[in-house]
Order: sequence, then C-alpha cells, then structure tokens
Amino acid sequence: MDFFNYQAQQLHAEDCAVSALVKQHGTPLYIYSKATIERHWHAFNNAAGSHPHLVCYAVKANSNLAVLSLMAKMGSGFDIVSQGELARVIAAGGDPGKTVFSGVGKKSSEIAYALKHGIHCINIESVAELDRIQTVASELDIKAPVSFRVNPDVDAGTHPYISTGLSENKFGVSIDDAEAIYLQASKMSHINIQGVDCHIGSQLTEIEPFIDALERVLLLVDKLAEQGIQLSHIDVGGGLGVRYKDEQPPEPADYAKAIMEKLADRELTVIFEPGRAIMANAGILVTEVEFLKTNESKNFAIVDAAMNDMLRPALYQAWQEIIPVDLNTSAQESVYDIVGPVCETGDFLGKDRTLAINAGDLLAVRSAGAYGFTMSSNYNSRPRAAEVMVDGEQAHIVRERETQEQLWQGEKVLP
Ligand code: LLP
Repeated sequence: MDFFNYQAQQLHAEDCAVSALVKQHGTPLYIYSKATIERHWHAFNNAAGSHPHLVCYAVKANSNLAVLSLMAKMGSGFDIVSQGELARVIAAGGDPGKTVFSGVGKKSSEIAYALKHGIHCINIESVAELDRIQTVASELDIKAPVSFRVNPDVDAGTHPYISTGLSENKFGVSIDDAEAIYLQASKMSHINIQGVDCHIGSQLTEIEPFIDALERVLLLVDKLAEQGIQLSHIDVGGGLGVRYKDEQPPEPADYAKAIMEKLADRELTVIFEPGRAIMANAGILVTEVEFLKTNESKNFAIVDAAMNDMLRPALYQAWQEIIPVDLNTSAQESVYDIVGPVCETGDFLGKDRTLAINAGDLLAVRSAGAYGFTMSSNYNSRPRAAEVMVDGEQAHIVRERETQEQLWQGEKVLP
C-alpha cells in the first residue's frame, strides 16, 4: 500500500502532481512519500506491541538524510554496514546507541569509529573479526557490545544474489560452530556478549523460512543459556519482501506478529532490520521518454533514466512496474522495451511493457524507494538524479541533482 495514485488521470505522490514536480526539478527524479514511510515503519513497530523491541531500519535501502532523520524522529534505530552509513545516521540526528553494525568486512578504523560513538551492538560475522574487535576495543579500553550473526543454513527461496543464509554464502558463522565461538568470546577481556543475529536474505515472500531460521537460532539461545551465556537480545534481521508484480508477501504487521509469537514468552529484546519493506513502495523514479524507436524485432522507448539510476533490473533481472504519469493520451498501445541511454545491452528498466506513449511523455518506475538511489552510480559520466520527498501538498527537495563539476571533484590531471 502506498500513496502514489491517480487523481483526475494524473499520477500524484500524496497530493502533489508528479508532472508539477518534474517541471520544477527535471528528470530523472526520485520521489518519496513521507506518509508511506511512516506507515510502514509504524506497522513494524506496532506489531511488536509492548514486548521490548527495536526497529533498526537498514540504511543501505535508502540512506538519504531526510529519510534517516524521519526515521530518527519516529524513534527508529538503524542497521548499518559501514562507517559512512553510521556517519549519515549521526548527521541525520539518529542515535548510535540504537544502531547495530552488520557486514563481513569491517575495518579496524570502522570498528573504532563505531565503538567511540557508542554503537548499540556489532554483529560479528567471523572469528577473525572477533579477534579484531577485541584488539580495537582493548586499545580504546572499551568493552565492545557484540552479537554473532549465525548462518542457519536455511534457503530463503529468493534470488541467489540476495540470499544470505545458506552455508555456501559468505555471511555469518555456521550455526554448528556458534556455541564454541560464543564460549571463546565469553572469555575475552573487551568483549561484551549481548545477543544473536540472523539475516537469511532479502525479498522473501513467505514467512516459513524466517520461522525456520528463528527456531534454529532459539535452540542455540537455549544451549548458550545452559553454558551460562545469557543473551539480552535477538536480532531477526530484515528481508521481508514487497509486491513488485504479483508476489504476495505477508504484510509487515503479520510478519512481525508471527515472529513475536515465537518470542513472546522470552525475555529477549527483539531487533528487526527492515529496509525494503519500509522503503521500496515509498518511492518512484520518474523519467522522460526521449525517443520511440522501432527495428525489425522490437519497439524501444528510450528514456532518460538508466541502469546507473536504477540498477535492479540489470543486476537481478528484477521486474519493476512502469506506468505513465498522465493517463490522457492520443498514443496507441504498443509493446516496448524501456531502455536507458547507457551503452550496454543490459541497460533496461523493463522489457515487453504494453504502454500508450509518445516521445516527451513521463513514466514512473514504481517500488523504487529501496535499493534505487543507493545503488546508483555515475557510469557514463551521468550525474545522479535529484530526490524529492512529498508530505501531503508539500514537496521538499532532499537531494539536488548532481552537477557536471561534482563528477570530477577530487580528480587530478598529471602535472
Ligand atoms: N540486515 C542485513 C544484515 C542485510 O544484509 C540486509 C540487506 C538487511 C538487513 C535489509 O534487508 P531488506 O529488509 O531490505 O530485505 N540490492 C538488493 C537487496 C540487497 C539486500 C542486502 N542486505 C536488491 O535491490 O534487491
């Protein structure tokens, strides 16, 4: 459910006409809906009820400062994977004390930065990382709050590139080795064991793999308790899918309720790390049709957004809905591949889409609020898109379109 609907045949973002936003800010343009973000965040937060919990929004999904500050104002925590993401959280007024630090390759400098800022928990992904954290924390004379990300070897049933909970994946420590690793960590002078963490993949459309993984992790929690290691939290990760086409993922509230049922009688604070489920359907990417082109086998709509603006279709063959901004048209329907100007055959936003369009028309790529702008690049020396957040009838520019000069900022020619 989102706030991008037609009013009098014109696509609106909440109560702002998309065409008016484009007149002011140009294309390609990301537009986010504040009300959608708030609704999705509260769905997670409310479903956990009065059981101690923390919603740690996964910053990688969309790290715009306006998005992060909105989350911070709602009381959100954050899931970060780099020093840069933590710096953004802090710049946006977020609380490092409600932030968890995930990722397989944390540098010593990043660990130090997180510890100095009072990170809530570092989610450790290997024994080598445990040793590194012990070294950094002892240098700082801080006891590092940690959990281990365990890999429960559960098939998330999602695209292989975004599946993380199988033994063949690089993430986490094997659940079979976890008990020994916790025992090792419990004897370390600058390690403070807080919890356990598990994230099995992204865009999951069924509840079962989450519950499967959770049951395996709870067995570990019980085994650790028998060894005298009491955890204070369980972090169930993110990964809840959204509807891009005809998927039927559980609603965030139903997902969170199913998780909470398994945890209700335990004294464990529950941490959620949702990214996509909050942001994907809170954003669209608006693009203008530059040319219509037909060859012997295909019709192409060549648009001004490309794989550098929205990588998901090229990278994962992801299907994103593409709709016209103005339903009033004299054009005839045809089947088009919607392609960008980048010099790669993989540069497409959608294939075989039936649309009634002319050159100069605007199209909106839906469900673009998560892993859209954050995965964008400057490939082909294309400045990154502007971003706007709407709030009812108000629209705020939350990132200016990049300028040509910014593209080579920091570059030097030889003397
Ligand atoms: N926690 C951890 C440790 C993660 O690795 C991720 C996502 C999340 C939470 C948030 O997952 P979400 O709730 O958004 O599914 N670029 C890909 C998605 C990559 C997800 C990586 N990890 C895409 O566009 O589909």
